[in-house]
Amino acid sequence: MFFPQTLSPARPGEAAPAAGPSTTAVHGGRRPNPYRAVMEPVVASAPTVFRDTADMLAFVEARRQGQTEAVEYGRYGNPTVRDAERRLAALEGAEDALLLASGMAAITMTLAALVPAGRHVVLMEGVYRRTRQFVAEVLPRLGVAVTVWNRQTPLTEASRPNTALVLAEMPTNPYLRVPDLEALVRTAHGYGALVVVDATFATPINLRPLALGADVVVHSATKYLGGHHDLLAGVVAGASALVEQVRAALGVWGGVCAPPTAALLARGLRTLGLRMAQHNRNGQAAAAFLEGHPAVERVWYPGLPSHPDYRAARRQMSGFGGVVSLAVRGGLQQAARFVDALRIPLLAVSLGGVESLVTLPALASYYNLTPEERRALGIPANLVRLSLGVEDTADLLDDLAQALAVV
Ligand SMILES: Cc1ncc(COP(=O)(O)O)c(C=O)c1O
Repeated sequence: MFFPQTLSPARPGEAAPAAGPSTTAVHGGRRPNPYRAVMEPVVASAPTVFRDTADMLAFVEARRQGQTEAVEYGRYGNPTVRDAERRLAALEGAEDALLLASGMAAITMTLAALVPAGRHVVLMEGVYRRTRQFVAEVLPRLGVAVTVWNRQTPLTEASRPNTALVLAEMPTNPYLRVPDLEALVRTAHGYGALVVVDATFATPINLRPLALGADVVVHSATKYLGGHHDLLAGVVAGASALVEQVRAALGVWGGVCAPPTAALLARGLRTLGLRMAQHNRNGQAAAAFLEGHPAVERVWYPGLPSHPDYRAARRQMSGFGGVVSLAVRGGLQQAARFVDALRIPLLAVSLGGVESLVTLPALASYYNLTPEERRALGIPANLVRLSLGVEDTADLLDDLAQALAVV
């Protein structure tokens, strides 16, 4: 069976994909192409060509009647981008998915498209700092009010009668906080708000937010989904009606994904199951090793019982990924010595690729803030974020041990 039905994205009323996550990563959303090519062809054309005006008329009529998803111009869609979207929808168990130019394009477009002016958004504390910046600085200019919810109080206290959307992230960066999504969804749906989850750090292999009741899941595909540090892209997945709203807005705002990037992403997706198994293994092993080391003050990893959200993570996730945050005993100097002594992880700010990366958030992402401002945001100078890649676990543990020995 070359194109198994069970691996097609679920349509309304249709059962979710029956295959396992790795089979879905390799085959899910696959469709026949005119060349009988195993790898989907890359259609790197901005416009679509028509034989004559009769052909163009037939095309626009078929579009009007919803008989084709073909489009006449690359800002409204592209066959290669669509192939990647079908794969992403299958992985998320979503009716549809939309691919965009970056993770930030996915987040900003979702909020701009789904929240009408005059409404209110609740933002979970600890979400990605550029998401916070967009919500705090841009949404008010679009006539949308915002409240930050710190999880210490009930969600209802951060909500208003006109709350349209709750935006959560799980796990968060850099402390890998994991809210109770089902409880969050129950409350938010109780007053008619949509729930959007940024699941970049989890991937659909470790967490399926839609199956837990979320309305929309977004990703920075730049991270694990692409997986090779060689592309920028973003994903929005959910019910067709919602994704269609975001797609229509994207055609106007214009932050689309280029076809060659979509092809790179679709190639990366095929090994997502394999890669995540090794990321999960390396993350868990590194976290356990670091937690027991005398040169380490504290470790944050949702797969460790010491993590504040361990139980919520265990209940909702099937693995905890490759990102581990740690405070090195001492200050910036000790943390820097550890980072500089590492031989395998590269010093770079991203995460989720096959190469292990390491960063010092106080230097890399929060450098422009004063030490007091950083402390207020919970970013101490001795904080290190590791993104464990897919190298051999024993090599990574040896490397961590020798680097901590010089601290
Ligand atoms: C959780 C999370 N969401 C979104 C983004 C933004 O993604 P991109 O860099 O692809 O725009 C990032 C980037 O670091 C992130 O960590």
